[in-house]
Amino acid sequence: PILDKGLWCYSRHPNYLGDHGGEGMSLWEALPTVAVVGGQSSGKSSVLESVVGRDFLPRGSGIVTRRPLVLQLHKTDGGAEYAEFLHAPKKKFPEFAAVRQEIADETDRITGKSKQISNVPIHLSIFSPNVVDLTLIDLPGLTKVAVEGQPESIVEDIEMMVRSYVEKPNCIILAISPANQDIATSDAIKLAREVDPSGERTFGVITKLDLMDQGTNALDVLEGRSYKLQHPWVGVVNRSQADINKSVDMMAARRKELEYFESSPEYGHLAHKMGAEYLAKLLSKHLETVIRQRIPSIIALINKTIDELNAELDRIGRPVGVDGGELKRFPSLQSDIAAAANDALDRF
Ligand code: GDP
Ligand code: NA
Ligand code: MG
Repeated sequence: PILDKGLWCYSRHPNYLGDHGGEGMSLWEALPTVAVVGGQSSGKSSVLESVVGRDFLPRGSGIVTRRPLVLQLHKTDGGAEYAEFLHAPKKKFPEFAAVRQEIADETDRITGKSKQISNVPIHLSIFSPNVVDLTLIDLPGLTKVAVEGQPESIVEDIEMMVRSYVEKPNCIILAISPANQDIATSDAIKLAREVDPSGERTFGVITKLDLMDQGTNALDVLEGRSYKLQHPWVGVVNRSQADINKSVDMMAARRKELEYFESSPEYGHLAHKMGAEYLAKLLSKHLETVIRQRIPSIIALINKTIDELNAELDRIGRPVGVDGGELKRFPSLQSDIAAAANDALDRF
């Protein structure tokens, strides 16, 4: 019942099993998440949106993303897609344009209509037959200077906030660097290298390939000669501001992106390894590997929690009238979780 939408449901309830004051890793920390990191307006929200394949995030020049957005995708067996916010649990959003508006409004509710940021996350869930079960995090961009209306501390505040997400060993980092800036100056790569020196959980993404100066290209980066990562670099072409203003939809944008790569004299030979759709596939393959590796430790963690709950009940005494009914739930929960973990894998 609580698991009927898959393992990822647990991450909606971080306190449900794992995080109850014990030492060691909580269940929440055992499950992988994907976060985007990069400079302001490097294309983070655009990349996240195209990986998901739906239009729902506020994007644009300047500081648009001002609170972390924790997005949970839940695969459903069918029916219409809808979104739900934790701050408005009874309201279903069937229209994704309204989701974008609600994110903007909810951002302003905490920060005011300003250039301020807040580290209080917005929690959004999307239910759809067309997604994989996954948690993704959109983050404000790293900046170098405070602009008018921002406190001097904002540069460090944002870095600390972003770092708090990406330093977790379960966090897969989409390090976003725009192609029209030198990779050596990439804030995304700098931070990713600090928190993930081996590069095992970092995916380098180059955006804005369409905006490079005539006569230059990003092949040195994309082919791993400039900066080597464990995983292959992926180049993308997101919608431009003009496309956003004209409300070019996701499908049209993906077609255009594909055409861009296939017809490109420079990137044509890499076309099958470029673009948002390929990035999404690469990510789900990686996630599958990570989850497979984690299943034993997740189950061990759950067993430990069940033992702790039982010990706690022994200590405080079992409530009269419960008659073991509650306790019986724990062992079955354990097999439920193992089944859900396998189920989650089947969905990739
Ligand atoms: P964020 O601040 O990192 O989340 O970046 P956004 O996704 O909000 O994008 C910032 C601006 O850059 C928007 O105006 C986008 O339209 C534009 N943009 C992002 N990626 C690309 C790209 O690949 N090509 C072009 N031409 N514009 C892009
Ligand atoms: Na921006
Ligand atoms: Mg953004």
